[in-house]
Amino acid sequence: MTPGGLMAEARRARQKAYAPYSKFAVGAALLTASGRVFHGCNVENASFGLTTCAERSAVFTAVSEGEHDFVAIAVTAREGRGAPPCGSCRQVLQEFAPSIWVYWRDASGRILKSRLRALLPRAFVLKRGRR
Ligand code: THU
Repeated sequence: MTPGGLMAEARRARQKAYAPYSKFAVGAALLTASGRVFHGCNVENASFGLTTCAERSAVFTAVSEGEHDFVAIAVTAREGRGAPPCGSCRQVLQEFAPSIWVYWRDASGRILKSRLRALLPRAFVLKRGRR
């Protein structure tokens, strides 16, 4: 799947965002090695700190479906507005896919891409072999 195709999935995922407090809807689409695409959206809470980001909701949905092997993730907030994953989401992606491709948009709407390794150098790792 192309970056543009995965980004289109992220746009679809964003329609489900629950963001009544920030009004900042985010969508994520996570591509697995088996070719499945998992959607995620941000889910906010009246107790703000309990909010979950779109990227983490996609990862947790995929893992709960037995998928651990991730190839790429696309993230979108408002059109033409960049939304690379926050630091917490980078660390969660690192757990399963240290070299996953990450796609997001720059201010002009162009898709940017980077390996997670470049976005999270010297990541924290507790141990090898998680399963
Ligand atoms: N958010 C995400 O969903 N992903 C990120 O990587 C950064 C932030 C959400 C959390 C919150 O609902 C809103 O964006 C504003 O921070």
